Amino acid sequence: DQSTLQAYRASVLHFSADPAHHADAHHWHEDGLLLIADGKVAAAGDYQQLSLQLKSELKAELKIHDYRGKIIMPGFIDTHLHYPQTDMIASPAPGLLPWLETYTFPTERKFSDPAHASNVAEFFLDELLRCGTTTAMVYCTVNPTSVDAFFTASEARNLRMVTGKVLMDRNCPDFLQDTAEGGIRDSEELLKKWHKRGRQLYAITPRFAPTSTEEQLQLAGELAQAYPDAYLQTHAAENLDEVAWVKSLFPSSRSYMDVYDKYGMLRPRSMYGHCIWLDNHDRKRMAETQSAIAICPTSNLFLGSGLFDFVGADAEGVPLSLATDVGGGTSFSMLQTMNEAYKVARMATTYLPAMRMFYLATLGGARSMQLEGTIGNFMPGTEADFIVLDPKATPLLARRSERTESVEELLFALALLGDDRTISATYAAGKLVHSRDGVLL
Ligand code: GUN
Ligand code: ZN
Repeated sequence: DQSTLQAYRASVLHFSADPAHHADAHHWHEDGLLLIADGKVAAAGDYQQLSLQLKSELKAELKIHDYRGKIIMPGFIDTHLHYPQTDMIASPAPGLLPWLETYTFPTERKFSDPAHASNVAEFFLDELLRCGTTTAMVYCTVNPTSVDAFFTASEARNLRMVTGKVLMDRNCPDFLQDTAEGGIRDSEELLKKWHKRGRQLYAITPRFAPTSTEEQLQLAGELAQAYPDAYLQTHAAENLDEVAWVKSLFPSSRSYMDVYDKYGMLRPRSMYGHCIWLDNHDRKRMAETQSAIAICPTSNLFLGSGLFDFVGADAEGVPLSLATDVGGGTSFSMLQTMNEAYKVARMATTYLPAMRMFYLATLGGARSMQLEGTIGNFMPGTEADFIVLDPKATPLLARRSERTESVEELLFALALLGDDRTISATYAAGKLVHSRDGVLL
């Protein structure tokens, strides 16, 4: 339908494979065109070629949004973060466990109030869109109210978002504790209400092994098996004190990951945050079950949790993506997250090319979530979630990007120097949802 056809001219970047394993994984059109029809990608390619073809097909002039000098790419996918922790981002503590006790649990308590939950959800979504993130795997709190508030806000903006009620029936304050049965019942109710309603997707969300009884983990695993197309998310092997705690709580398990494995929680559509302290057996099990790792560098450095082992994960072929882990993470920006991921990789004497980082923040996330073909690149028929990056967003970035001699160098400068200011515009399902100059068409 030509009345709903929209065309955007800029440099265009997207991926059809992982650049770490394929030479022609990325698609770059220096003078490119992205064509959108009815909220979906119709085509992405060279401006000259596509516009000529279109003119003859439409027998009319096409109105083209001119973003020349900027770069269009798929919206970022952030595979692990907590919306209730927005208001406590940048709270210092000497490690994960004291941080949870001192800041996280008291902050999450407030989400029994639906007005508070909606207020934070709206701010959180604004902030994601300002940073160019169009899909995220999000934790709510134990309170079902926090889930309704988030999905309601996301649905109103027509965003593809994944979230779920946190399950936690031990080792937490009374005011945040559910029960094994009650927590699962609430989760199933929310799943039936929200999963696949519009663009919303549900994630069964046990917080992490220490805050669930064996009974709750068992029931969570069974719920996941009953709904194989729903998501499952949790934390794993983030911090050494936590790993020791898990060992004492589950003495018969071979490893931390083995606890989740025992309850049938290793499966496609499962997303494990952090995964710093794994061994090769754990990684093998994750790869063969298509269980994914959300790498959270800003959080891991902030909380002193450790350095993610890219080489170990790649050796086994575990599905990988990047995540902010706000509020343990210190930025909503996936560009800032790339910056820190790059430095973490360097500390482990490996090297993350910019192409790989942009892959991990787009198609890598979509693949980890089994959503390739729906989001993550510009193949025809995918949902039109895309962003416009400005290489001249700041004086320094302008100066540096003018002096780059390859696409790799330009993307690297964007990853290392970029942040929310770099995102000129964000589109969700073909609609403008954030504009840096403040004008929403
Ligand atoms: N482990 C259990 N809960 C959390 C949380 O909220 N944030 C982080 N970073 N790790 C956790
Ligand atoms: Zn987390």
